[in-house]
Order: sequence, then C-alpha cells, then structure tokens
Amino acid sequence: MRHYTTFRQLEIFEAIARLGSFTRASEELYLTQPTVSMQMKKLSEMVGVPLIEQVGKKIYLTEDGQELAQATREIFGIMDRFTTLAAERQGLKKGQLRLMAITTASYFAPRLLGEFAKLYPGIEVSLRVTNKEQVLASIANNLDDLYLLGQPPEGMEIESTLIMDNPIIVLAAPDHPLAKEKNISLERLAQEPWLMREKGSGTRNAIERRFAEQGISVRPRLELGSNEAIKQAILTGLGISALSRHTLTLNQPGQFAVLDVQGYPILRHWYAIYPAGRQMSVAARAFLDYLLERSKQKNS
Ligand code: PGA
Repeated sequence: MRHYTTFRQLEIFEAIARLGSFTRASEELYLTQPTVSMQMKKLSEMVGVPLIEQVGKKIYLTEDGQELAQATREIFGIMDRFTTLAAERQGLKKGQLRLMAITTASYFAPRLLGEFAKLYPGIEVSLRVTNKEQVLASIANNLDDLYLLGQPPEGMEIESTLIMDNPIIVLAAPDHPLAKEKNISLERLAQEPWLMREKGSGTRNAIERRFAEQGISVRPRLELGSNEAIKQAILTGLGISALSRHTLTLNQPGQFAVLDVQGYPILRHWYAIYPAGRQMSVAARAFLDYLLERSKQKNS
C-alpha cells in the first residue's frame, strides 16, 4: 500500500469520511464525482479490503475504513505541524518587525531591539518613535506589529502585556535648595516653577494626577515637547520636573538631583500592545516572547 497510495487519494478519502458523501467531497475538492469514485476504488484495491459501504444513498465506513480515516487525520496533522514550523523557521530567518514607541520609550527601545537583533540577525527591524496621537492612529489602522506605551489606550480592542517598570522621579539641578531636603510634601513641590511635557504626554498626566489626588493643581511655567529639552531647562535653573527614570539612562550619576518627595516615585509601567485579533507575524511574536522572558529574568 505504502508505495502506491497517493496523498491525493488519502485527501479524498478523508473528505468522504468527514462529509459522509461522495458528492460533497467532490464539491469541496473541486473534482468530478467519477474521479472521486475512481480514486476510492483504486485506494480500496491497494489496501486490499473494502473501506466504504453504500447502503441505499448512505455511505458508511467499514471498520478498516474507520481506522484508515483515523490514520489519515494523524498524517495530515503531522504535515500541518511540519508546515507551520517550517514557516516559523523561515519567518525567524528573514521576517520583519515594525515597532512603534511613544516618545519616552525611545530611551530603552533601541537597546532592546539591539539585543533582539543579535539573537535573530535575519529579522529586519524598524522602530518609529512618535507622540501619543500618532501611536493611537497607527493602532486604529493596524499599521505596525507592536507598540510600546506607558498606558494601554482605553476604548480600543487591544492585547497588552506589561514588560517593564517605569518609575517617574522628581528632578532638579544638583545645587537646587530642595536637593538636600527629605520627605518633601507635594504642597511644597507645587510652589516650585514646573517644567512640563506637552498636553497628552503620559508622564505629564501621571504628574497631574498625583497632584490632583491631593487637591493641588500646578500651572507649568514652561511647556516643552521633549524630555531632553526639559532636562536642559532644569540644568539651566528654569525649574523642576518629574520624568521617567529611563530618561537618565545616558546621564552621569549626580548630574541631576533626584528629590525625595512624598508619593514619589510614581510607579508606572511599560506595555507592549497590539490590536486584538491581529495575526501576529512570527517575528513580532518572537520579540514579544523575548520581552516577556527578559522581564521574567529581571523579576526573578
Ligand atoms: P510620554 O511617555 O507620553 O510622556 O512620552 C509615555 C508614557 O509614559 O505614557
């Protein structure tokens, strides 16, 4: 049997066994009914036993037929698994990963991508860093594979995974009078000139929420659209601000004073998200797995 039975015959037989009808099997496989009947006759002859019995218009599988149907399903299952794995291997060898990160995530996203690219040198990676509005538009239009954000967007069908801590700390120039004080109250802090990120920034929202919890509102002295501009302004003595600790990645320790303030650091997190229902590419899945593995190792 092994040498003469074709895959095609098994495919036809599986369809007949599943659908209980020669006609429906021929329709599903786009074959004529005589072709189907002839292939089944050949299959029976090669096996040497009847596989199908016809009683009136109904067809039944014989005991041997039932066993062959089971074996056929197993063979197809093995083939399906093989095809999936082969496609995955191919995807990891030369797949593509399109990543979008919100402003502040630019401090760590390139490093993560660099580590990932070393593990999978064949995957072509692109990273766009942009503001919240554009990130939301890209999610809505299903343009990128994965997004790195400080807060999963509300009202959107998404899957989100926490990947890292994002502490927000209060920064001042090293010679600032508050630098030596302990346990500074939010009321005292609100009296300082504040440098704030633009409206809509996740960092800014977190700062304003923390003040609002105490019934305090702060009016920024200066609004600046980037973390680096805020850091420069702090160093020139224009005021204080609170930023993600990640924004200090490239600064020397001691370049800024981290103030000891009640209710700080604000404990936020970074999330990797993608639109629910999006068929993730093999490369994107591998990157997400890499992020999760990394976060597990950091927490263990
Ligand atoms: P940003 O940061 O919007 O302030 O750049 C992202 C976030 O923390 O949500």
